[in-house]
Amino acid sequence: LNNGLARTPQMGWNSWNFFACNINETVIKETADALVSSGLADLGYIHVNIDDCWSNLLRDSKGQLVPHPETFPSGIKLLADYVHSKGLKLGIYSDAGVFTCQVRPGSLFHEVDDADIFASWGVDYLKYDNCFNLGIKPIKRYPPMRDALNATGRSIFYSLCEWGVDDPALWAKEVGNSWRTTDDINDTWASMTTIADLNNKWAAYAGPGGWNDPDMLEIGNGGMTYEEYRGHFSIWALMKAPLLIGCDVRNMTAETFEILSNKEVIAVNQDPLGVQGRKIQANGEDDCQQVWSGPLSGDRMVVALWNRCSEPATITASWDMIGLESTISVSVRDLWQHKDVTENASGSFEAQVDAHDCHMYVLTPQTVSHSDV
Ligand code: DGJ
Repeated sequence: LNNGLARTPQMGWNSWNFFACNINETVIKETADALVSSGLADLGYIHVNIDDCWSNLLRDSKGQLVPHPETFPSGIKLLADYVHSKGLKLGIYSDAGVFTCQVRPGSLFHEVDDADIFASWGVDYLKYDNCFNLGIKPIKRYPPMRDALNATGRSIFYSLCEWGVDDPALWAKEVGNSWRTTDDINDTWASMTTIADLNNKWAAYAGPGGWNDPDMLEIGNGGMTYEEYRGHFSIWALMKAPLLIGCDVRNMTAETFEILSNKEVIAVNQDPLGVQGRKIQANGEDDCQQVWSGPLSGDRMVVALWNRCSEPATITASWDMIGLESTISVSVRDLWQHKDVTENASGSFEAQVDAHDCHMYVLTPQTVSHSDV
């Protein structure tokens, strides 16, 4: 969507994956505090996004949305003020249907009123869900909220959450800043890998202003191993997915923090070229030895060697496969070891990758020095 936002994929936190409906204003404030004190905010995680269940069960007598009086007694405006005072942005949630998925009031046919009230509260981001949609096509239900948000005059990021219904990559570029390509993720290896493959299909349609959204991160929620979460983060970054943390950042382990705070992987996600990397090769039984790659600014490339097999494997990335000219030599930097592993690779490089682990590299073409010419 051409609203000046989402030049790179959005980064931040969302309440749903860990808290579901157990949210309140204290959790949101403490999360904002933790993003700042941990250093994650400085790394780019600036959106603090409230998901479903923030609102009261009914609109008020004037037909307006109201925050739940017990869980958000101070109201969203004061919460936005607080979040803004920390240098962060506040996101809220509604639904392009008559109810949200957890049966709070939805915004279908209330787009203008609801956009106005969100803007008046100082909201910076709207996630817009797809439940109770009366069978009306997403392409009919999502543009009215875009127009209503735009008419407020406030800059509001618009995140479509239509679960991939009607292949949004094909039409949502003019509607939202990101669009979900799949059903909900859950905190398992099977879910995460399936969703990665589904999202991969739409790589050609992502770019500055509008991104494919394979759903929020599960890193830190406990259902996958350290290696699996490293793959989750690597592949989401390479696919230019939104990096929305889905764990309780007030209580992160050192391992969770290490993954989420990897500056070099974040830089791949936020690279100004904004091209979604893709699965380039899949070998072995069940295609489990995989190479994912894509172009970065400065003629560099990102390459992930993702071993989805249950045994260690040696995985090779050849220039031919990733689209580098055969004569080019590159230096290879390992983004998880944080070191240059090869000064001068030509033709291909390979690595031994543990089961369910993922290596990630940036390849930088060697500049020819004057003495060589
Ligand atoms: C479905 C969405 O896909 C989830 O991300 C979450 O927002 C829930 N609805 C909330 O009910």
